[in-house]
Amino acid sequence: MGTTGHDTVLVVDLGAQYAQLIARRVRERHVYSEIVPHDLPASEVLARRPAGLILSGGPQSVYAEHAPRIDPEILTAGVPILGICYGQQLMAVELGGEVTRTGRPEYGRTALAVQSDSALLREQPADQTVWMSHRDAVTRAPDGFRVIASTADTPVAGFEDVGRQLYGVQYHPEVSHTPLGGVVLDTFLTLIGARRTWTAHSMIAQQVDAIRETVGGDRLVCGLSGGVDSAVAAALVSDAVGDQLTCVFVDHGLLRHDERRLVEEAFGAYSDSGLVVIKAADRFLERLAGVVDPEVKRKRIGTEFIRVFEEAARDHAGDARFLVQGTLYPDVIESGHGTASTIKSHHNVGGLPADMAFELVEPLRWLFKDEVRRVGEELGLPPEIVWRQPFPGPGLAVRIIGEVTAQRLALVRAADHIVLEELRRAGLDRAAATGDAVPGAADHVWQSFAVLPDVRAVGVQGDQRTYGYPIIVRAVTSEDAMTADFARLDWDVLERIANRIVGEVDEINRVAYDITSKPPGTIEWE
Ligand code: XMP
Repeated sequence: MGTTGHDTVLVVDLGAQYAQLIARRVRERHVYSEIVPHDLPASEVLARRPAGLILSGGPQSVYAEHAPRIDPEILTAGVPILGICYGQQLMAVELGGEVTRTGRPEYGRTALAVQSDSALLREQPADQTVWMSHRDAVTRAPDGFRVIASTADTPVAGFEDVGRQLYGVQYHPEVSHTPLGGVVLDTFLTLIGARRTWTAHSMIAQQVDAIRETVGGDRLVCGLSGGVDSAVAAALVSDAVGDQLTCVFVDHGLLRHDERRLVEEAFGAYSDSGLVVIKAADRFLERLAGVVDPEVKRKRIGTEFIRVFEEAARDHAGDARFLVQGTLYPDVIESGHGTASTIKSHHNVGGLPADMAFELVEPLRWLFKDEVRRVGEELGLPPEIVWRQPFPGPGLAVRIIGEVTAQRLALVRAADHIVLEELRRAGLDRAAATGDAVPGAADHVWQSFAVLPDVRAVGVQGDQRTYGYPIIVRAVTSEDAMTADFARLDWDVLERIANRIVGEVDEINRVAYDITSKPPGTIEWE
């Protein structure tokens, strides 16, 4: 049992872009999982009392000079291990097998032949497709291992030593392109006897206890952004300590249609904690007057936001000792603080002045986004909040190319609202879907919005020549915003969006659809 009270699988990060995905996939199977650096000594790994380890993939060759290694004692300590890709190769070389640069790299979907009577791949079809991404390959399994899978170019695409609970696969079971990959992870968790206790309910219970213990009778303040992370963090804290929490919502005027009402309703109805709404649109517009450079825009908005929040916190929550933040596990991993505790003390946050030094409460710092959403649902937050599309901190300002004015804001906000309404009508927005109509991750749009460029266009409406503005519609699918694909919307949906924008938004006489993916584009325009 790990330190969390749940059986824990540690994912040893060997430099893969996939380590986070592996941990998510394990947690989806209700077993708690954390990522640890590869250079953690065996004693520290074992002190965590993991139910099992998964060695991730990695971009290096095991023979490269600075190739990441693990403490070899980990492999012989009796902890069950699954090695994936580079992780499997590392197991092979450390345990006396052989890894060769075969000269035949495999990338992408690959045919795999499986020993269906093996433990790890039991009852799986003898022929299947898996996702490969490697140059080196295990060419001889270590003594005691049985080869359980192979491809045309990789003789040892999977091995196992059931007695020692050591398993390895050359392919990537964590990616969706390996259709039976989830079954492999599931079987591993079953083989190692990991108890499946990690649920939204257990996450809440654990955090509520931790928050109560930390804050005692002191007061907290939380900035609500309208996004899911701060909403769920606030809801959790509110569940734990009720009206000791004051929530502050800064309306900087760069928000989507009806945003303030949505936040007021969601938090008014859900919690008895005070909600302070600061209407600061004029202040932000003043700071943005004449600014066209995207970075300057972002900085001015960020600085002004801190000022407004600071004033509000002083005026309405001056006695607060803690600041609640919706920091997520991926941010924690990326900042290299993966082993920090839930509550960090005496930290200056987001540039807040020194005399505003709060202690931080970060109840989501162990959770992935999809888990945060599950917790939000369990806490009773409405789907429009839990499933709403991500929205950038600087708001509509980064969707207006050139100067941000009240008039240009009104145009882009109205167009943006139409885009979202039409996607909802087409069943493509998760926040508006219910029951059977809920689209799968692959079908729903990650983000959709309107962009107002700083050019004008000639058109003709009602027999009259017009000289107005175009709107660019952007809709993307994505799993995590690191990469994105433009959404293949039906022509009918696009036509309805275009007709409505041109018909209903004054001065817009043309609509274009952005078909750039990320990379090379970004999701936002600025
Ligand atoms: P890009 O445009 O870089 O955006 O592809 C990736 C994701 O991040 C969001 N985004 C932001 N979120 N503050 C935020 O909280 C920001 O300044 C910011 N800029 C971009 C963007 O909407 C997308 O989901």
